[in-house]
Amino acid sequence: MKNMFLFIEDCSKTFELLLEKDISVSRQQEVRSFFTRFTMDGIGTMSNLKSDGKDKVKIDVDDSLLIAQCFIFFAAGFETSATTASFLLYELAKDQKSQERARQEIRDWLHKRDGRLVYECVTELPFLEQCMDETLRLYPVLGVITREVSDSYRFADGLSVERGLRVHLPVFHLHRNPKYFPEPDAFRPERFAPENKHNIHPYTYMPFGEGPRLCIGMRFAKMQVMAGLVTILKKYRVELAENMPRTIEFEPKSIVTSSKHGIKLNFTALEERGV
Ligand code: HEM
Repeated sequence: MKNMFLFIEDCSKTFELLLEKDISVSRQQEVRSFFTRFTMDGIGTMSNLKSDGKDKVKIDVDDSLLIAQCFIFFAAGFETSATTASFLLYELAKDQKSQERARQEIRDWLHKRDGRLVYECVTELPFLEQCMDETLRLYPVLGVITREVSDSYRFADGLSVERGLRVHLPVFHLHRNPKYFPEPDAFRPERFAPENKHNIHPYTYMPFGEGPRLCIGMRFAKMQVMAGLVTILKKYRVELAENMPRTIEFEPKSIVTSSKHGIKLNFTALEERGV
């Protein structure tokens, strides 16, 4: 924990320098006005959701708040997507048939798009998207999501939760529960195929969270992971490196789901093999 705070302090200093020194004055003003608007919109929405718009939240938008926004966007947006892309490549390295199917889909799509990588990769590569959804099931970046009860509530079965209670939602456990996902440890992209997707029980699959505090960067994340995968798979065959286990052991101290052994893969340029 101490290391994490030192890391946050380091990052804050870096963002402070970026904001203060490394960008021109007009750019600084642009960045400030963007984050001020974004923060105020966000806070406005949050206060409305929590209090039905009755309470007004007043908050000073100072440098620390702006730096915190930069930091959270960087922290929440970088490691999460990189981890997902790594686990996805790891699963495709183990499942060459799915890798070849994804590559063929990418090649056909690039052919239709004159070789250009465009935003539509998010919606026009259904099999690759299924592979990403299945990867996020096996390796949800946040294995547990926490909520605080804002109003005491009694469920139909009699269970009561009091205001202020912290509830930890076991996302990883739900994703790997055989009751909801048969053979839960197997990588099966077809679970997310259009004809099967509707069988997924609501709230048993939530890699981006759920409700009003759902991941704000979900679409952006999908775009950058898909774009990265298109760029890699069109050129390289990915295989497990020697000694890379076929089952991941997780790093128990990590906040985000991460592998104890790292993820070691071999990339072979396809031209070299004459593919
Ligand atoms: C594969 C990539 C990503 C995954 C799996 C992921 C997952 C999550 C999850 C599980 C949460 C908590 C949601 C909840 O409590 O219900 C969250 C929150 C958040 N994410 Fe992401 N995320 C990803 C990428 C990104 C990106 C790219 C950004 C920004 C550029 C981002 C920004 C945020 C922010 C700001 C929050 C806090 C939202 C709030 O509290 O209202 N995330 N994310």
